[in-house]
Amino acid sequence: MRFIDELSLAGKRVLMRVDFNVPLDDKGNVTDDNRVRAAIPSVKYAVDSGAMLILCSHLGRPKGKKDPRYSLRPVATLLGEILNMDVPLAPDCVGEQVRTLVETMKPGGCILLENLRYHPEEQANDPGFAEELATLADVYINDAFAVSHRAHASVVGVPEFVKECGAGLLLKKELSYFNKAMENPARPLVAILGGAKVSSKLGAIENILRKVDKLIIGGAMANTFLAASGLDVGRSLMEDDLLDTARGIMALATKRGVKFYLPVDCLVADELGPNSPVEAVTCQEIPEGKMALDIGPASITLFEEALRDVATIVWNGPMGAFEVEAFSGGTKALAHAVGQSNALSIIGGGDTDHAVAMAGEKDNVSYMSTGGGAFLRLLEGKELPGIEALERCGTKIH
Ligand code: 3PG
Repeated sequence: MRFIDELSLAGKRVLMRVDFNVPLDDKGNVTDDNRVRAAIPSVKYAVDSGAMLILCSHLGRPKGKKDPRYSLRPVATLLGEILNMDVPLAPDCVGEQVRTLVETMKPGGCILLENLRYHPEEQANDPGFAEELATLADVYINDAFAVSHRAHASVVGVPEFVKECGAGLLLKKELSYFNKAMENPARPLVAILGGAKVSSKLGAIENILRKVDKLIIGGAMANTFLAASGLDVGRSLMEDDLLDTARGIMALATKRGVKFYLPVDCLVADELGPNSPVEAVTCQEIPEGKMALDIGPASITLFEEALRDVATIVWNGPMGAFEVEAFSGGTKALAHAVGQSNALSIIGGGDTDHAVAMAGEKDNVSYMSTGGGAFLRLLEGKELPGIEALERCGTKIH
C-alpha cells in the first residue's frame, strides 16, 4: 500500500474520500469537529502539493435521497475557516454540474462534493456510480478510516477505476497506533471493553483473548458475564442466549492465562432516568426489580488497580449509561485512570471518545481513534475492506 506522501500530486485531480460524518445541532452547526480536523494534514498536504483536491464524504443516513438536513454545507464552511481558503460545496457528487466545477479547478484548489449517500448507489457499491466518481480523478486517496469497514462505492469501488491510489495520513496514523497497541505491544497489555451488548463485541473479545494480558469488562455487557457466573442481575440489560458463550469466554481466558476482570459492585435504580433513586450494591445483591446502570466504587478501585502496572491500554465502550449524569461516574473514573496512566493508551468508538472528552482527559490519552465500527473490526482481527481495495487500484480500467 502506498501513502499520499509517496505520490506526486502536482497538477493532478485528487479525489480524497474522507469521513466528515460529524454531529450537527438543530441549527446545522458542527458540534464536534474532530473528524474534520483529523483530515486536515492530508488535505493540506494535497493542497500544498499543487493538487486539485476533490473531497468526498457521507453524512448521516439520508436513505439514498437528497435531504437538506444531511447536507455537507456546514462542513464546507468549517473547512474554509480552518484552511483559510474558499472551499466550495458542489451541488451533488456526480453529474454534469460537478464535472464542470471540477474542470474549472486550479492547482492548490479544494472543493467538497455533496453527501455521497444522497445516492442509493453509494451504499449498494454500484459499479456505474463508482466509475462515474472515479472519472473525476487522476489519483484516489482514502483518508476515511472511520468508514473503511463499509464496502461502499466511494470506499471500495472507486479505487478499481483510478490509475493511482494511496492511503492518507490519518489512515496511516490510525493503523500505526493500532498496530503498536495490538500487534507489537509493550506489556502488560490490557483491553477494556464496555457498552451494551456482548453480541456486538463477541468477535473482538475472541480475538483480543489471543493478545492481551488482562481484559476488563464493564457496561451492560458485564451483566451477561455476571449472570453466566450464576449471579442474579435483576432487571438489568443482559443477553440470555449468550450465557453459554460467556462461560466459554471466561474458560478460554483462564486457559490462556488472561486476567479477566468483571465489576464487583454496581449502581442500581428502578429505571434509566435522572430522577430515579440510585444505590450501590455488590453484584451478588442486585435487587430483583432493579437494573445495574454503572459500575460501583469497589469496581472502580479494582479496575484502577488493574491498570496500575500496564504498559498498553486499548479501550472501547463505556462502563455504564454515562449519558445520564447519575450513571457517568464509573466511565469518568476510568477515563481519569487511563488519562493519568503512563501507558500507551488508544481509545476507540464514538461513545468512549465522548466520555474521555467529558472527563477532560482528551489530551492525556495517547490516541483517540476517529473510528467506531472500523476500530471494532480491527479489534476483531479483520482487514478493512477500504484498505484491501487500495490493493485493487486500477484493476477495472478498460
Ligand atoms: C461512523 O460514524 O461510524 C462512520 O462514519 C460510518 O457511518 P455509518 O455507520 O453510517 O456507516
